[in-house]
Amino acid sequence: MTEHRTPDAHFRTSLLEENDGPGANPTDNRTMGEIIAARFSRRGFLKGSLAVSAIAATVSPLALITADNARAAEGSAFAFDELEAGIDDKHHVAPGYDADVLLRWGDPLFADSPGFDPTKQSAEAQARQFGYNNDYVGYIPIDGSAEHGLLVVNHEYTNPHLMFPGLVTIVDGKAKQAPLSKEQVDVEMAAHGGTIVEIRKVSGKWQVVRDGKLNRRITSSNTEIALSGPVAGHDRVKTSADPTGTKVIGTINNCAGGVTPWGTYVMAEENIHGYFSGELPQGHKEAANYKRLGIPEDAYEWAAHYDRFDIGKEPNEPNRFGWIVEVDVQDPTSVPRKRTAMGRFKHEGAESIVAQDGHVVFYLGDDERFDYVYKFVTTGKFDPDNRAANMDLLDDGTLHVAKFADDGSVEWLPIVFGQGPLTAENGFASQADVLIETRRAADLLGATKMDRPEDIQPNAVNGKVYVMLTNNSKRKADQVDAANPRAENAFGHIIEIVEDGGDFTATKGRWEILLKCGDPAVADVGATFSTATTANGWFGMPDNCTVDSAGRLWVATDGQGPKATGRTDGLWAVDTEGTARATSKLFFRVPIGAEMCGPLFAPDDQTAFVAVQHPGDGGEDWEAFGRPSYYEDLSTRWPDFKPDMPVRPAVVAITRQGGGKIAV
Ligand code: FEO
Ligand code: CA
Ligand code: CA
Repeated sequence: MTEHRTPDAHFRTSLLEENDGPGANPTDNRTMGEIIAARFSRRGFLKGSLAVSAIAATVSPLALITADNARAAEGSAFAFDELEAGIDDKHHVAPGYDADVLLRWGDPLFADSPGFDPTKQSAEAQARQFGYNNDYVGYIPIDGSAEHGLLVVNHEYTNPHLMFPGLVTIVDGKAKQAPLSKEQVDVEMAAHGGTIVEIRKVSGKWQVVRDGKLNRRITSSNTEIALSGPVAGHDRVKTSADPTGTKVIGTINNCAGGVTPWGTYVMAEENIHGYFSGELPQGHKEAANYKRLGIPEDAYEWAAHYDRFDIGKEPNEPNRFGWIVEVDVQDPTSVPRKRTAMGRFKHEGAESIVAQDGHVVFYLGDDERFDYVYKFVTTGKFDPDNRAANMDLLDDGTLHVAKFADDGSVEWLPIVFGQGPLTAENGFASQADVLIETRRAADLLGATKMDRPEDIQPNAVNGKVYVMLTNNSKRKADQVDAANPRAENAFGHIIEIVEDGGDFTATKGRWEILLKCGDPAVADVGATFSTATTANGWFGMPDNCTVDSAGRLWVATDGQGPKATGRTDGLWAVDTEGTARATSKLFFRVPIGAEMCGPLFAPDDQTAFVAVQHPGDGGEDWEAFGRPSYYEDLSTRWPDFKPDMPVRPAVVAITRQGGGKIAV
């Protein structure tokens, strides 16, 4: 049994987000970087007299020059008064802006949806309400409007200790979680997936349109999804419930995603390993495949009630997850499709751009320590005048994996059956085999092992691509390379890629590091924020990101907190151009325990949508707060702050007071 199953030490929390997969240590030992940062936090430095002698030894001259007071970054693309970093039970936004809660877990999505009653949860109610742990947020305009559209939101995972009353007891100072009932598992499954909901701005404020005819919930329990592309119908995806290997019930762990140029919604299946339990039959042919993905992790209790999550009973089921799922939002009865041509791994997101010649390029991260950065190039071309012609573009294309050389070049290696080592000699009989075991194929090609690739964002304005690398505490000194230059990389970094000739389909490009994250006042951390970045402006653990229509980069973080950086996660504005390059400013921050997901700007840049995920989750911060956080005893009851209402993940809409574009 794993850490997650026996919650003496941890509930299923953001620890799962840490991706303690194969080869990763599941304990929460602090990394050296975390210890350094905690010991020499900026606050400690500036206020502690004992710290004075330490400053000389550990603070870089550059950082000493930096004043604590906010300085205007010359040439910055962002104009707003910076928010103060910190930690409390509320959300905060920069002065002059409103941050309004738009959609909370349990909010009704349909005219006939029941209201949210946390003491009377049911799968039926949940399937008609906004799901749990909102992650990706996309906006699909209706009639081209920036004030009326479909909001598409992923619901990545569930935290039962925060969702259900009566699960947790404290014994000898430790939290114990009772097993979930089948009814609770059913609620969990209905709380996963995605939401498609019509929203409209009325008098400057966004509202949910409950009777929107395109409103839809996608769940893990009852949404039928087709497998399409090279893997559809393959023997390795056939199960007793689906002898054709073409129909899957549900999608799980939908992390980030994207909206395609043709207006469909794509959802990335990320940490799929947690949902599977049991043991493969001795000598089973999928053993190496599953080991590479950390399957089974046994973090959820779904297998106790549904045989398909027990790999001893249904050994092929995991091959049906770990894909990119495409949803046609214009037809609420459409069957979403798992687009197998885009590979199978712990997909973080799927942001795309149309290349000059009309091919569509998707950038894909595999969020695990030492895993890879990918891109998928469609074989067909995007037709802006014929939506129907684009609907199966994702079934045919070339998946590539990145090899970052120390000389600043990057090569995109095609993952194609029959080429190089991807042959029968290495156990591949077809492209379907290669795609099912994408990680092993990329291993054989010699791809560069990265520090947890998360969101990857092509920027149509400046032609560059931004790669968020969250952290990698497991990287040893003898494993560093130019693209992953820090051992025990506790705070992550951001890489900028320019494809050759500005052509997103190119198989070669150049890269450089935009930013090494962490506290720039601590020399040993090695952060590279500009000197104009204030004590509030630096961050660690870049995860999700977006670019607004002006091409400005906004970075959301996952994993900060009292121990790691002395601040909550949030949304930072990061300059990429000119003298202000690598200057960062804090715009929004989440309540205690949450991670910041989803950032997305409405097409007119007048709204920033952000997703506050797992607020109130204790995670690794329990020690700092002296107690766990669970339904009856929460570290925050955000956003309602009512004694009978639990903490609720929610999407927040940020607008400028009095209207207008954000940060101009
Ligand atoms: Fe679900 Fe890698 O964040
Ligand atoms: Ca994350
Ligand atoms: Ca993420």
